Amino acid sequence: MRELLHLVRLAYSAERAAAFAYQGHAASVADPMEKAALMRIEKEEWTHREHLARMLAKMTAKPSPYLEMKYFCIGKGIGLSCHLIGWFMPMYFAGRLESGNVNEYVRMETLAREAGMHEEIECIREMARVEKTHEIFFLERAQGHWAMRVFEKVFAWGRGRSFNALGYETFVMGEVKRETGEKKGMKEKVAK
Ligand SMILES: [Fe+2]
Ligand SMILES: [Fe+2]
Repeated sequence: MRELLHLVRLAYSAERAAAFAYQGHAASVADPMEKAALMRIEKEEWTHREHLARMLAKMTAKPSPYLEMKYFCIGKGIGLSCHLIGWFMPMYFAGRLESGNVNEYVRMETLAREAGMHEEIECIREMARVEKTHEIFFLERAQGHWAMRVFEKVFAWGRGRSFNALGYETFVMGEVKRETGEKKGMKEKVAK
């Protein structure tokens, strides 16, 4: 329960950081399609935070003031930096971060099941699925850029290199498959 509570608190604060970051990111791009997609992603992060708030309430817990402050600063900082570091880096690093976010929800699902919070499982799975769609969006934007070849070598994320085990090909075909293997809690289907 301790790890689950920590993870829910962390995700609760990190979702707001993500939303702030995407506000800055959306404001920094010129392409209307990209701007609209980033605004939609921001909205999805706020929705995640609402789900996590409900989970915290169920656990009769409150958000961590320390994490709230820390991730407030991180989110605002990233949002601001999007105006300064060009087009590619915000796309690349957003995708890299989202790739790791998927695993947070995969782990949360396992912990929620162990804690008997079965009614939250579907919601947590859905959050993992949505984070994967975010990862895929940023990968698709960044992959055509000349810098991708260098960044994916240096930062270990890119085409064919993800931090989570949700399969890209099966996912884009509409069938999210959990691959068996090293990652705990990855043995069942995430979405239909
Ligand atoms: Fe999210
Ligand atoms: Fe996300």
